[in-house]
Amino acid sequence: MAPAHDDDAALSRHTDYGVERLEERDLASDPVAQFRRWLGEAAERGVYEPNAMVLGTIGADGDPQSRTVLLRGVDERGFVFFTDRSSRKGQALAAHSAATLLFPWYVLHRQVIVTGDIAFASDAESDAYWESRPHGSRVAATASAQSQPVAGRAEFEAQVRAVEERYPEGADVPRPARWGGYRLTPRRVEFWQGRTSRLHDRLVFTRAGESWSVERLQP
Ligand SMILES: Cc1cc2nc3c(=O)[nH]c(=O)nc-3n(C[C@H](O)[C@H](O)[C@H](O)COP(=O)(O)O)c2cc1C
Repeated sequence: MAPAHDDDAALSRHTDYGVERLEERDLASDPVAQFRRWLGEAAERGVYEPNAMVLGTIGADGDPQSRTVLLRGVDERGFVFFTDRSSRKGQALAAHSAATLLFPWYVLHRQVIVTGDIAFASDAESDAYWESRPHGSRVAATASAQSQPVAGRAEFEAQVRAVEERYPEGADVPRPARWGGYRLTPRRVEFWQGRTSRLHDRLVFTRAGESWSVERLQP
């Protein structure tokens, strides 16, 4: 019988995840080191945009929200991304600093979920990253009041042209006060490795004072 919808086949696929495993003895001693190891492998093994992550926040109204942003820095202090702080996510983070980051590395049968609190990155970090961006990206970020409605594409393009006229190619585009970085300080980091017959590995680091405890969860 023909499928009722073209997407039925996609919705009913069962992929058996391969032979890779994640054992306690393989883990780095802290989750950031383990994350950097997996991020490196994601890049080496051809994951498209390996630093793309789904940022989950809690709106001021209590509703959950999510969207993709790019990880631009990670070290023992936490996970850094850049955005418009007056955007929907910025307003959510002003109301609730708790957030999650989800790295969906499906082709590797891997997922990492980081939970923690988010605070502004320093002005020096925001300036340094802003300076590294191409002129066009700076113009776009300046012209766009991210997450605000606009009457149409033409109206938005007119806003961009106005910024381009003010700051032509070669001119310095100053960082808008509303644009900058955020850093999530992790308190829980879950590493998920898909395994055959749905017997997946899930290892969770939870902050315990200055160190980390590790627990295995049932898949
Ligand atoms: C692959 C990808 C990468 C993105 N990276 C960023 C980013 O680093 N910063 C950002 O502000 N938006 C980024 N976006 C756009 C966001 O997903 C989102 O549309 C925007 O930040 C507005 O979200 P908000 O209205 O929830 O605040 C990215 C989108 C995609 C699909």
